Amino acid sequence: MSDAERRTRILAVNAEHPEPDRIAEAARLIRAGRLVAFPTETVYGLGANALDAEAVRGIFAAKERPANDPLIVHLADVEALPPLVAELPPQVERLAEAFWPGPLTLVLPRSAAIPDEVTAGGPTVALRIPAHPVARALIRAADRPIAAPSANRFGRLSPTRAEDVLADLGGRIDLILDGGPTPVGVESTVLSLVAPVPTILRPGGISREALEAVLGQIVVRHRAVKAEEIALSPGTLPQHYAPRTPLRLLLGADEAILAAMRRVVLEAAARDRRIGLLVAEEDLPALRNLPAVIEVAGSLRDPRGVARQLYAALRRLDGAGVERILARDFGERGLGLAIRDRLSRAAGGDVVEVKR
Ligand code: TXA
Ligand code: MG
Repeated sequence: MSDAERRTRILAVNAEHPEPDRIAEAARLIRAGRLVAFPTETVYGLGANALDAEAVRGIFAAKERPANDPLIVHLADVEALPPLVAELPPQVERLAEAFWPGPLTLVLPRSAAIPDEVTAGGPTVALRIPAHPVARALIRAADRPIAAPSANRFGRLSPTRAEDVLADLGGRIDLILDGGPTPVGVESTVLSLVAPVPTILRPGGISREALEAVLGQIVVRHRAVKAEEIALSPGTLPQHYAPRTPLRLLLGADEAILAAMRRVVLEAAARDRRIGLLVAEEDLPALRNLPAVIEVAGSLRDPRGVARQLYAALRRLDGAGVERILARDFGERGLGLAIRDRLSRAAGGDVVEVKR
């Protein structure tokens, strides 16, 4: 453990029934304007009092995040919402009923109660009520809305375990509440209710299909490459959530993806280099005896399971000393869309459709 890591305390908490004294200690830090990382059902968040502009600036400093990238404000219940918004569009009640607490973030017109630091000076605010018992207990005990981005350095993979937070932010924050691995594993779905038609700005833990079942037609905004859109929501930067190792996302038929993986692995092995593969368990028979570092993210039949494993598997591959990572696509149904989004960002746009 480095010196830097020693200055951040880690406090273990029971994920289902968090110990009130430990939560109270974390809540005192939040009220004092300090930074506390905590588990949500999606990924670990880096929390600060959302109504304290100075504390919120601390989040940007710790993450080295550009100030034009707005933060999500986390609430304990819907009663906390009205003072923070200028207007409550009619869909909010139905969405809250169906998906809160849970991995859905709503972008709404902001009220003056929210500091400019949170919204990057914009006219809207992103809000969500997380489902994780530790997150809920912390927000309740702090008795304040908590602004929290994912608890990673800007541009790195999101953390799904306390040790991932420590590796990125050790020495830069006061406390990490360690509630074990996060159950959803990818970030919340960000849904804008400011646009004329509800628009998914970032696919995530609530599927497009589930939202459509409640709202009818919605729009999925595709990854931005234009500068003005990046300014609107920098989570849409092509290179976000990126490992250090170059990654390529392979789309196409299973056999074509597997043939491409075999080809690249053998070509690298001939040069004494290793390739990392992110695959499904169904792929394993076809990859037997290949000289590659293989991480199984889960089954093609279970995108939820894949989402849960995704970031930890990518972190392991990133640390394996491979020349390149090849990741397979997991489709677009359910959480598949969020997985594809994160992998194509990790690929920095290096997405290849392979043909037989
Ligand atoms: O699951 C999650 O959403 C996690 C946990 C900690 O809650 N948080 C998270 O925060 O992923 P962050 O900051 O890493 O990503 C928030 C995304 C960014 O893409 C940001 O640009 C977008 O939400 N966002 C925040 N406020 C916005 C706003 N007012 N309008 C449009 N996009 C916004
Ligand atoms: Mg993030």
